[in-house]
Parts: sequence; C-alpha cells; structure tokens
Amino acid sequence: MIKKKIFIHIMGARPNFIKAFPLIQVLEKYNISNKILHTGQHYDYSMSDQFFKEFKLPKPFSNLDIGSLSHGAQTGRMLEGIEKVLINNKSDFVIIYGDTNSTVAGALAAVKLNIPLAHIEGGVRTKYYTSPEEINRKICDHISTVNFAPTISSKNNLLAEGIDPKKVFFSGDVMYDMAINFRPSECTNIDVPENFVLATIHRQENTDDFKVLKSIFKELINLSSVIPVIMPLHPRTKNKLIEGGFYNKVMKKLRIIEPLSYSNLLYLIKLSKLVISDSGGVPKEAAFLKVPSIFIGDNIVWHELVEQKWTLLLPPSKIKNLESYYTKIVSKKVPSSLSGFGDANASIKIADFLLKYKADKL
Ligand code: UD1
Repeated sequence: MIKKKIFIHIMGARPNFIKAFPLIQVLEKYNISNKILHTGQHYDYSMSDQFFKEFKLPKPFSNLDIGSLSHGAQTGRMLEGIEKVLINNKSDFVIIYGDTNSTVAGALAAVKLNIPLAHIEGGVRTKYYTSPEEINRKICDHISTVNFAPTISSKNNLLAEGIDPKKVFFSGDVMYDMAINFRPSECTNIDVPENFVLATIHRQENTDDFKVLKSIFKELINLSSVIPVIMPLHPRTKNKLIEGGFYNKVMKKLRIIEPLSYSNLLYLIKLSKLVISDSGGVPKEAAFLKVPSIFIGDNIVWHELVEQKWTLLLPPSKIKNLESYYTKIVSKKVPSSLSGFGDANASIKIADFLLKYKADKL
C-alpha cells in the first residue's frame, strides 16, 4: 500500500483561511492527509471559526492560541509553538499562505527543521518595508523550498531577487480560483440598500495613527451623505475608533456591521457600486467580480489592478474630497477585462506540483 503523505498547513489569520481552502479542497481528493496547525493569531468567531464552518475545513489538530501581541512577541511565540508541533508530528510538506505573522513563523520553524516548505502567494512586492507584511513576504520567499507566484510580475520579482528558478512556479492566484468558483450566497441578516458603497479599513498603516484614521473616517462620513456606506468593521479598527472617541459618530453615520463570512462578502461586493478598502484581498475580489475600487494606501501590492484601471490608488494624505473620486469613478464604464492572475485553476496546478515533488529535483 502507498504510504499516505502528510501535509501540515499553517495558518492563523483570516486571509490565510481563505487562501488555504481551495488548495485543501483539491488535495483532499488525493491520498494526502491534510492537517491544519492554527496559530490562534485571529480568535474572534467572525475572524476565524466562521471560515472553518463556512468552508468545512478540517478541524485544526493543534491550536496554539497565541492571540494578539506585539509583532515580535506574537511571531516569536508562534515560532516556538510551531517548532514543537512540527518536531512531534511528521510531515512531508509544510504549506504557508500569504504574508501574515503566522506565515513567517511557520516558514522559519519548518525550514530550520529541514521540512520542505511551500509558500502560496510568493513574490508579491511593494518594496516598502514600513509594512509588516512586506517584511514577512520577503523572508518567506527567500527560505521556501518552492514559491507559487500568483501573478507574472510576482514570478519576475522572485527571479530578479536571485531566487533559483527551480523554486519559482507561476500558478496564478488561489484567490481568483475562490472568487470565480465559489458561489456568493445571499446575506440573510443584512438589509442591503439598492445603491451603496462597501468599505473596509484595517491596515496598521491606516489605523495606528489616529490622525490618519480620523481623516479616512471623516471622508467616509461625508461620502455617506451622497450614498450609504456599509462597513464590516475589523476589531483592530473598532478598538482604535473607540480609543479615539470617534466610534459613536461613525456608528451614527455609516452602516457598521460585523466582519462578514466569505460568501456574504462576495455577495456585498457584487452588489456594491464601488469598493473602498485598504485590504490586500478585497480590491482584487472586487475586480474579479467586475466592481471598481479605491485602495486607501501609499502603495499597493497588486499594481495590475491600478494599471488595468480597476483600482484607484489613493494615499490617505490625498483622501480629501472622497465624494468627487466616487462620482468620477461611478460615472465611467468599468474596464472590459482583467488579466495577469492566472486562469482560476491555481489550486489544481499547485496540488499537481506538490504531489509530484521529489526532493532531489529542487
Ligand atoms: C493581520 C495581518 C494582515 C491581514 C489581517 C486580516 C499580520 C502582520 N497582518 O492583521 O496582513 O490583512 O490580519 O485581518 O499578520 N483582533 C481582535 N480579534 C481577532 C483578531 C484581532 O480583536 O480575532 C484585534 C486585536 O486588537 C489585535 C488587532 O486586531 O491587536 C490586530 O490583529 P493582528 O492579528 O495583530 O493583525 P491584523 O490587523 O488582523
């Protein structure tokens, strides 16, 4: 009998779960035991369990319950916890997703134990090291056994940084697989107006300086006098608004809701006139569903969205008169196509590669 291979998937934060689901779904069809190691970086129901339930992901065989800490403490405790688990549980491959602290901790633990390491979403760059995610991305890419690049430009970034071409594989974007193949379901508990803007803000660069956070929310409040603004609120942003004494005003003017399930998020994106977000994933999901967006930030990892005119890059320092950007964008026709993210079969290609992997070939 052929021995069943064991893949340990390390995850802990909301975007990790969304990227892991399509690959695990494909791998489950083969003679693979998929085991999930949850770091506990995200722990609220709406940030974690909600996705395990929605995607019917295997229950984590280990949860480190690390929770919210400073970057160093969080990553360090994860590294120590993951190492222990990997020493006690044999695996043929460790798989990490995206650019979170759980991703980099998983990468460091696996590579120091000489376990083959696959990085899903390798090579994405802004080249601005003020963002914690950019640091995580670069470390993971340079120590992984194989990187699965979501776009051609991310593949080129890896090659330009001197990574061995044998360790670089253009798969396309697993999030494209998700947005195209996953059916958005109807929100059961949200009363959706006919026209609205969907907004999400959570990135550290926009939330941790209250002046910046307040200027973004002031503009969203102004916009809400033109069109309703629905905002699923990340707990980080909620805490910062409460600390700054601005939460009640925001609650009165914007339609604040809990962080959404994946299918409800896709459903609201699809119905919205425009998406305003600082998330790495949401503007991309908007473009996949043919909805234009404004990205609030100084730089964007997915420059393809800006070049192909799906997304307007708006630094927080230039956010004044958000209404005028809204009016301008919704009066224009949306672009006819989006390219560069593969063919919505990334997970199948990644699974195929991992199943055929032989250590001596890399
Ligand atoms: C992390 C990722 C980011 C990703 C985001 C998605 C890193 C460096 N960043 O940022 O790339 O876009 O997840 O959400 O890993 N909190 C709760 N409950 C939770 C989780 C978080 O209340 O279940 C609050 C805590 O106050 C915490 C704060 O949110 O301090 C930030 O959480 P953290 O996991 O450190 O980073 P995110 O901002 O979520």
